[in-house]
Amino acid sequence: YTEKQDTNRKYHDIVEDALEYFNERIFSNEGREALEYLSKRQFKPDFIRENNIGFAPRGWNNLSDHLLNKGHDIRDIITVGLAKDGEKGHYDTFRNRVIFPIHSPSGNVIAFGGRTLEDKKEIPKYINSPESPIFHKGRNLYGMKERGSVIRRKAYSILMEGYMDVLSAHSFGFDVAVASLGTAFTDDQAKLLKRYTSNVIIAFDMDNAGRFAAEKTGIVLKAHGFNIRVLELKNAKDPDEFLKKYGKQEFLKHVKGSKEIFDYLYEFYVKEYDLSNLMAKQNFINRFKEFFQNVETDLEKSLYIDKLSKS
Ligand code: GTP
Ligand code: MN
Ligand code: MN
Ligand code: MN
Ligand code: MN
Repeated sequence: YTEKQDTNRKYHDIVEDALEYFNERIFSNEGREALEYLSKRQFKPDFIRENNIGFAPRGWNNLSDHLLNKGHDIRDIITVGLAKDGEKGHYDTFRNRVIFPIHSPSGNVIAFGGRTLEDKKEIPKYINSPESPIFHKGRNLYGMKERGSVIRRKAYSILMEGYMDVLSAHSFGFDVAVASLGTAFTDDQAKLLKRYTSNVIIAFDMDNAGRFAAEKTGIVLKAHGFNIRVLELKNAKDPDEFLKKYGKQEFLKHVKGSKEIFDYLYEFYVKEYDLSNLMAKQNFINRFKEFFQNVETDLEKSLYIDKLSKS
């Protein structure tokens, strides 16, 4: 035990107690609506239990009162992000939301994501635990709990955007899926994946935000020497929707048909330029600068430049 682990023990205890609370609530009367919501999205009770999905009930102090009764300190509850300071005292961060626990690679719960049951514009669809002494967003991946050995054995990982995408993928047998927790993919996340594999398939959402994120993520991964492919799904906005509409075999076809990152970027960038114009062609080639900076070997770089010169 290091000193740091010792001082963090109380935070770990709080989030563990919170998880137990959320897990019990989803199978209680209060959780009925949440269970119905998840059932509409084709998640079965067994799957919900196995994946520790929970529910934060309505009301302002349910969880914080529970944690205070267990002897935890409100300052510590606030530090791990489960309550906030307000004008009329503290209040629970997660209210009337389905709860997805976020685990460290070694399997400790360290944070939560919460999805609202009511799709309203005024409230955020998801909220996540803030940074805390035990949770560093940029150093973790969602779905990573006990996932390392599977990824190592299957020798690849699928990187997705969202909680629902990862959970769906797991439920359909794609147990190598993880997600980047809704922020820009970091070097530390790349290093974490690299412990288990050098092969990544990016399967982000099929909208502009997803395509932009796939480009940026691909460039970060490239700097860490990954073999990168990008998966494109037709007639669905994300992997979760695709899997539920078309099933496992169709998804597998798309995995196999995923494009090498350079070819993906080529097709992505080429649409922006008129290559019959010399200036435009130069700009098109310059568009690859950031990517090329991260290509490690001259051999690989020359292969790509070869392809570019033929365009
Ligand atoms: P569903 O609509 O439930 O299928 O979720 P989704 O994962 O498809 O949502 P979306 O594609 O909009 O977002 C992808 C991921 O970004 C989510 O899983 C969250 O991690 C994150 N995210 C989405 N909306 C918000 C938000 O309002 N606030 C925050 N902090 N993160 C969000
Ligand atoms: Mn405890
Ligand atoms: Mn999206
Ligand atoms: Mn979705
Ligand atoms: Mn999505």
